[in-house]
Amino acid sequence: MADQPTTGEYRSGHDPRTLRDALGCFATGVTVVTCLGADGNPAGLTVNSFTSVSLDPPLLLVCLHKMAASATALTEASHFAVNVLQTGQQPASIRFATRDEDRFGATPWACGEAGAPILEDSLGVFECERYAVHNGGDHHILIGQVVKASFDGSLDPLLFFRGRYRRLHFD
Ligand SMILES: Cc1cc2nc3c(=O)[nH]c(=O)nc-3n(C[C@H](O)[C@H](O)[C@H](O)COP(=O)(O)O)c2cc1C
Repeated sequence: MADQPTTGEYRSGHDPRTLRDALGCFATGVTVVTCLGADGNPAGLTVNSFTSVSLDPPLLLVCLHKMAASATALTEASHFAVNVLQTGQQPASIRFATRDEDRFGATPWACGEAGAPILEDSLGVFECERYAVHNGGDHHILIGQVVKASFDGSLDPLLFFRGRYRRLHFD
């Protein structure tokens, strides 16, 4: 992937590439958001638009592109899971962001207590009940109420910054 320009300026109505580059300056973790579809098959995709919303009640959100193949399953499921990825799960992140991959066939997973698929060896897992779905332009804003959260604090997070996977670096 070509390096992004280090500076740039976007104004409303101008090229979306520059807007994406500007948004890419916000470093994030990486998650895979999953559910069981109405057909009983697992569905899921790689998502970095994850944020906490509220502690009381415990709410979080993810933004799903309306054209994503998994968007219907995820916005209609009663429950979904947010799997926070660790560095060893970069292949899973790539798989869940790539069309025509056997996402669940190639990734060890099991159903969690809320029924949504949990990816083995995730850094953290938030099992959620659907709370609300809002319109967010070309994305759905899916808000979940956390029914169970678990984590393994000994693992390092997979990060995403300026269009590339990154690792934490301590001097
Ligand atoms: C690091 C990373 C973060 C992503 N974040 C999101 C996101 O927040 N929302 C989204 O809809 N797609 C996001 N994507 C893109 C989807 O993972 C990708 O388009 C996927 O193929 C969609 O799968 P589907 O069409 O089978 O649902 C991200 C991709 C990557 C690599």
